[in-house]
Amino acid sequence: MIAIPYLTALTTYFSYGLLFAFGQIRDFFRKFSDGWWSPNNLQGYAPICLGLEDFYIRRLYLRIQDCFGRPISSAPDAWFDVVERFSNDNNKTLKRTEKINRCLNLGSYNYLGFAAADEYCTPRVIESLKKYSSSTCSTRVDGGTTVLHNELEESVARFVGKPAAIVFGMGYVTNSAILPVLVGKGSLIISDSLNHNSIVNGARGSGATVRVFQHNTPSHLEEVLREQIAGGQPRTHRPWKKIVVIVEGIYSMEGELCKLPEIIAICKKYKAYTYLDEAHSIGAVGKTGRGVCELLGVDTADVDIMMGTFTKSFGSCGGYIAGSKELIQYLKYTCPAHLYATSISLPAAEQIISAIRVILGEDGSSRGAQKLARIRENSNFFRSELQKMGFEVLGDNDSPVMPIMLYNPAKIPAFSRECLKQNVAVVTVAFPATPLLLARARICISASHTREDLNKALEVFSRVGDLVGIKYFPAEPKKLHQEERMKLE
Ligand SMILES: Cc1ncc(COP(=O)(O)O)c(C=O)c1O
Ligand SMILES: *[C@@H]1O[C@H](CO)[C@@H](O)[C@H](O)[C@H]1NC(C)=O
Repeated sequence: MIAIPYLTALTTYFSYGLLFAFGQIRDFFRKFSDGWWSPNNLQGYAPICLGLEDFYIRRLYLRIQDCFGRPISSAPDAWFDVVERFSNDNNKTLKRTEKINRCLNLGSYNYLGFAAADEYCTPRVIESLKKYSSSTCSTRVDGGTTVLHNELEESVARFVGKPAAIVFGMGYVTNSAILPVLVGKGSLIISDSLNHNSIVNGARGSGATVRVFQHNTPSHLEEVLREQIAGGQPRTHRPWKKIVVIVEGIYSMEGELCKLPEIIAICKKYKAYTYLDEAHSIGAVGKTGRGVCELLGVDTADVDIMMGTFTKSFGSCGGYIAGSKELIQYLKYTCPAHLYATSISLPAAEQIISAIRVILGEDGSSRGAQKLARIRENSNFFRSELQKMGFEVLGDNDSPVMPIMLYNPAKIPAFSRECLKQNVAVVTVAFPATPLLLARARICISASHTREDLNKALEVFSRVGDLVGIKYFPAEPKKLHQEERMKLE
């Protein structure tokens, strides 16, 4: 739950109201002109894209689209190259220039710094590229299973602490393709209200009944479980075939840790399966990088389905499901994304295997342990400094993701552009990724940031924060402000 200051809520609503009103007026006149943005005018066809989302894109997103999708021309390391763009039509279309700005990278999920060249991983990845090429050109059940794929699955299972694992070429697909295999009509999914879109789409595509519980609120989860178990399936009121509760380890838009121990206890009490998405937590938290279970002292045997991605801490691509031998074997027989999709690229697989070895110290160095210590220190340092400056920072200690609240739509481009001018690249997120009122800048800290990098970022943020007016908690105690705030889910 986020409490927004009343005045900010008012000005934010006002800003969106103004944008909406002017957008509607411009749309009215649009009828009389014919621009590139007009929907197809084929006679007799329904327009292929119209509606509120389309209005949102034209009248809000396009105004600030220079803040999104900025082209990068280097590895997403602590510093990276951002290509400068220009526009001849009020930012409606953007063209690249030759100019490149070296910027401090506070947006990539490069938690352990494996996204840049690594003395252990990179030579092995290059070797695997030479030996196997970049693609298997085949699905896993045809010619697409190499010894490296088997090694990867064993390595992942061992790392996350489960008997077996299956890997996929994409993290998004891991969620969206697995859920329809696990549950269907007559089953119940209970999903955290802020779960990632890949889970939402997987749940919808499964045909199961989906119920949502208040974000990270175990008591509400229990309420929903009791209600659903008492009611049973719709119409027939038969008992549910199975119940799966889906949560994330670290919520990527909130920087919050899952209340896993409490949630597990409730799931056990009501005999519901738990599905844990560790996209942002695996590798990034826990003493040896094994994610939220290790951090919060949860036995991995108590989590039935462990999901994660390789796109963050491991600096690669793809996703995994880890679980019992029976579960993984069943998925290998039935999951379409395993049977019909080309297997994960070999250099990507080798990158994951090598990164896990470094994390575990199996490369013969202590670099893995150092990276883990660094990301924890960096994250906690940066979070506490931001809070001291008066920013409203969401999330928990130890989480490398920390959103800074912006609220007002005008502050999204203002913060993003001013930071970029000072060579600090940040990611801003707004509707539809967040509720309309709760726009934010999402900072991702990496083990590869030095203290000097972080100090530079803090200095720039402090200046830009004053300029843009986003220090919502200046000096005074938090409680005072809380009282004059509007509570929002
Ligand atoms: C919680 C969560 N699950 C799944 C995914 C999808 O993973 P990928 O980007 O590897 O496709 C993401 C992506 O950011 C995520 O945040
Ligand atoms: C277009 O984007 C640039 C930054 O890339 C910004 O400075 C400028 O104000 C934008 N123009 C409009 C009309 O929004």
